[in-house]
Amino acid sequence: MHLVNQICEASGGPCAYTGPTMMQTHKGMGVQDVAFGTLVEDLVAALDHHRVGKVEKRELLAVLGPMKSEILEQK
Ligand code: HEM
Repeated sequence: MHLVNQICEASGGPCAYTGPTMMQTHKGMGVQDVAFGTLVEDLVAALDHHRVGKVEKRELLAVLGPMKSEILEQK
């Protein structure tokens, strides 16, 4: 539900994300670049499945992209 609310808020609302920061949430998980890329691929596949438009897809990915540095942990 946190993820749904976060994506809803990031794409203009009206939901509000009330969970912890991305850094707090993913701290210690050792998430690497390849896992992040796989998540984005899965997300794009889901958006395609639901026929989300190119422009909206790009807009959503542009909102999520900057979170990458908070989620990844270097080896
Ligand atoms: C744009 C990329 C990502 C976003 C926006 C995102 C966002 C979130 C959010 C909102 C939560 C819920 C926080 C909570 O319930 O406290 C979460 C939890 C989690 N994320 Fe991510 N995440 C991303 C990428 C990843 C990646 C790449 C991995 C690992 C492959 C990952 C692993 C997890 C796990 C395991 C949890 C569950 C934590 C728990 O329930 O204790 N996330 N993420």
